[in-house]
Amino acid sequence: MIEYKRHLVTAALPYANGPVHIGHLAGNFLPADIYVRYLRAKKEDVKFICGTDEHGVPITIRAMKEGVSPQEIVDKYYQIIDESLKEMGISFDIFSRTSKEIHHETSQHFFKTLYDKGLFEERESEQFFDEEKQLFLADRYITGTCPTCANENAYGDQCEKCGRTLSPDELIQPKSALSNSIPVKKKTMHWFLPLQNYEEWLKQWILEEHKDWKNNVYGQCKSWLDSGLHPRAMTRDSNWGVKVPLPNAEGKVLYVWFDAPIGYISATKELTPQWSDYWCKEDTKLVHFLGKDNIVFHCIIFPAMLKAHGGFVLPENVPANEFLNIEGEKVSTSRNWAVWVDAYVKDFPDMQDAMRYTLCANMPETKDNDFTWKDFQDRNNSELVAILGNFVNRAFVLMHKLCKGKVPTFHIEQKDEKDDALFDKIVSTKKSIESSIENYRFREGLFSVIDLAREGNKYLQDKEPWKKADDQISIDNCLHLCLQLCANLAIYMNPFLPFTAKKLCRMMKVVDRMLEWENGGSLKLLKQGYPLNPPELLFRKVEDEEIAMQKDKLVVGSQQSKVDSLQLADNNIQTSQISNLKSQISFEDFDKIDIRVATITSAEKVAKADKLLKLTLDLGFETRTVVSGIALHYSPEEIIGKQVSVIANLAPRKMKGIESNGMILMAENAEGTLIFINADGGAMNGSSVK
Ligand code: MF3
Ligand code: ZN
Repeated sequence: MIEYKRHLVTAALPYANGPVHIGHLAGNFLPADIYVRYLRAKKEDVKFICGTDEHGVPITIRAMKEGVSPQEIVDKYYQIIDESLKEMGISFDIFSRTSKEIHHETSQHFFKTLYDKGLFEERESEQFFDEEKQLFLADRYITGTCPTCANENAYGDQCEKCGRTLSPDELIQPKSALSNSIPVKKKTMHWFLPLQNYEEWLKQWILEEHKDWKNNVYGQCKSWLDSGLHPRAMTRDSNWGVKVPLPNAEGKVLYVWFDAPIGYISATKELTPQWSDYWCKEDTKLVHFLGKDNIVFHCIIFPAMLKAHGGFVLPENVPANEFLNIEGEKVSTSRNWAVWVDAYVKDFPDMQDAMRYTLCANMPETKDNDFTWKDFQDRNNSELVAILGNFVNRAFVLMHKLCKGKVPTFHIEQKDEKDDALFDKIVSTKKSIESSIENYRFREGLFSVIDLAREGNKYLQDKEPWKKADDQISIDNCLHLCLQLCANLAIYMNPFLPFTAKKLCRMMKVVDRMLEWENGGSLKLLKQGYPLNPPELLFRKVEDEEIAMQKDKLVVGSQQSKVDSLQLADNNIQTSQISNLKSQISFEDFDKIDIRVATITSAEKVAKADKLLKLTLDLGFETRTVVSGIALHYSPEEIIGKQVSVIANLAPRKMKGIESNGMILMAENAEGTLIFINADGGAMNGSSVK
C-alpha cells in the first residue's frame, strides 16, 4: 500500500460548445467537489483540476449551427460555464482551457515524445471526403439513413433516434452535412496508437489490481479488454485543434481525445510550478471524476498514453457515474431537454445548496437516475427545510428564549442516556461519512448528515425544554448539546452544502476554520457562555408556482428548439422565394383552361438541354408529347408511371426541335425541388381537374 502524500483530482473537461446542465453537475462536478472539499477539510494536499475542452467536432458543429467561428463559440461558452460552475460552488483550483498556449505546447510535446520513441504506426486509410468543400469529413459531418430504424437524419457516428452506434460506412445514402453533396472515399494518413500493445498490461492493471473500482467502471473496462484492443488514430484531418507537431502534417490536428486529457496536465502546470510533484511522484493519489460515456478514454486510452510516455502517475480510481435523466427522459442538448446550470442560478439565486442537495440525493452512482422538479421541491421542503433547517432554527430560537442568547453550560453530573446516545451518534456519523466519501458513495454520506439532523429533532422532541421552566439545568444541557450538534452538522454538511455551512458559522459567530474535519465529533466547538447571533433562515420553501414555471420552461424550451432547428434548416437551404399573386382573372378566363389527369408512360433526356425531359403522356383518350423542364430534379426512370396534372389545351410550342403539347403542373417544396401536383388517389386518365 502506498502512503499517499498528495491528491490530484480531476473533473472531465466539458466541451465549450454549450452551457453545462445539471446532468454534468450530478455526474461529474458535484461528486468531485464534495470529495475535494472533504480532503481540504482534512487538510490534505489537494489540487482540483478542470477546464473547458475546446477542440474537436462538437465545437465546429456548434459554430456551424450558430454561424460563427469556432473561436467565438469557445470564448462565449467558456465564460458561461466558468461562471455558472463557480456560482454553484464547484471549487476548482484552476478552471483552464485547452485553447491556451501552454496546453498546445504540452500536448504537442507529449505527442512528439511518443513519436520519437517510435510508438505510433503511420497508416493510410480511406475517409469520406467532401469534394465541394475540399475537406475530410468527421463522422458527425456525414448524415444518411440509419440501417436499423430508417431515420433519414442519422449521423455517421450515431443514430439519435434509435441510439445505435454507427460508422459512416453503414449509413444508407451518406451525404455531407456541410454541402449536401455525396462524399467520396479518399486516402489519408494518420498516426495510430497500437492499443493492443498495452492490452496485457491494462488487463493486469485494471482487471487484477483494480477490482476495487466501481462495478459500472470495471465492467465497461472488462468488456473493452475482453473484446480486444485495436490501433486507434490519434490524429485527424481538420483545421481546428492542436496542430500535429511534425513536418508535412499540414491540415492534421491531434485527435480531441488525445489532447483533452493532457489538458489535466497542462492546467496543473499553469496552476503551480510544483506540477510535476502531482503528476510524476508515486505518492500522488490521482482520481478522475466523469460520466459513463468517458470511461474508456480515462481507463484505457489515456492510461495507455501515459504508460507509453512514461514518468506519469496513473489514476488510482475512476469513479464514473451513470446518467441523470430529466423528468423521465434522457437529457438531449440538441432537443434542449435539459436544466441548464446558468439558468438555474438566475432563477434560484442563493439556492445553490438546494440543487446540490437534490442532485447528490439522486446521484446516478450505480444506475441512471431521474431528476424531477417535483422531487426537487419535496427534498427541499421536507428534508432541507423541515428537517435540517427546522432543527437548527429551533435550537437557536430556544437558546435565545430560554438561555439568554448564550451557549448554556453543560452540567455533566446531570447527563442522561439520551445525551449519551446523541453524542455517540455525532461521533459515529463522522466515521460513516468518512467511509462514504472515501469510497465515492456520496448519496450515503449525505443521508448520514440528514439522519443526524433527524436525530437532533427527535432529541429535542423527547426533551421538551420548552416545558421545563422549573428545571434550568435540564434546559441548559439539552440546548448545549443541540448547539454543539449544530456545529457538528456544519462540519459534516460542509463538503455537500458549503453555502449553508458558512451561514451556520456566521450564526454561531465562529470562523470558517471551525469546519476543519478534525473538529467533527467534538462537544467543545462552542464555548459556554458565548453569545450567538439570532438565527438566519438556512433554507426557504419552494412554492408550487415555481415548480410549475420550471416544468413549463423545460417543455417550452424543447419546443422552441424544434422551431429553431426547422428555421435553421430553412435558412441553410435558402427557401425558394414565394412569388407575388398575379392580377385577378374572371371565371370565364379560368374556365378557358383545360386541366387533365395523365400518366407518364415514357421519359427521355433531350439532347443538348440538361434541364429538359421529353415525356409521353397517356391522357386516356389520346397520347401526346410534352417537354418539361424537370431534368435537374428527376431522372427519367423515377417518373415513369407517375400520374400528373397537365394543361391540355395550351398552344403547342417547339423546344429544342420537339413540339410540346401541354404543360405539367408543378410546385416547389421548401428545398426548391419541383414536385408534381398529382391527383393522388387514382383519378382516371383524361378526367378534368376542376
Ligand atoms: N469533453 C468531453 C465530454 O464532455 C470530456 C473530456 S474529458 C478529458 O465528453 F479527459 F478529455 F479531458
Ligand atoms: Zn436508427
